Amino acid sequence: MKELTYEELTETQKKLLDAAEKAMKNSYNPYSKFFVGAAILTKDDKIITGTNVENAAYGSTICAERAAILRANAMGYRVYKAIAIIAKGQDFDTEDVVGPCGSCRQVLYEFSQISEQNLEVIMSTTKKDKIVISSIEELLPLAFGPKDLGIENNLVKRSLRVNI
Ligand code: THU
Repeated sequence: MKELTYEELTETQKKLLDAAEKAMKNSYNPYSKFFVGAAILTKDDKIITGTNVENAAYGSTICAERAAILRANAMGYRVYKAIAIIAKGQDFDTEDVVGPCGSCRQVLYEFSQISEQNLEVIMSTTKKDKIVISSIEELLPLAFGPKDLGIENNLVKRSLRVNI
């Protein structure tokens, strides 16, 4: 886990975070009024964004991170390198970074296994004055994954008909 400034990010990391920020503005959050944006960086450097979508049946809410992954998957991208996450309240900016919730960490872990890389997780405050870079394995130690079901990664890929 390392903390750095926006200026210290690479150009790609900056683009990813900026894309997450843009998606955050489309958050559908009438209940929590909490805006979250996420952006996935695919293997071939395509950026795919997501935002949180809430529901009157609160449990049906989808987080920004999973929204981005589901969208990327539907678009045919299943191998990722990184995800950027940014958040804000309706009446406040976040003073600390917002990490992905437990369910999102689990879903990120699944795709890190398919991607065969420890996904980089870039988390930022609203004003981008504090940025933390971690990895999915650091955020979800001793994770449960396909290997625990005795499923080899190449089988996961094949059964999913991944074209990579
Ligand atoms: N939320 C996310 O989008 N990602 C997270 O990792 C944490 C929580 C959303 C869900 C809900 O719309 C709002 O933030 C408050 O929980």
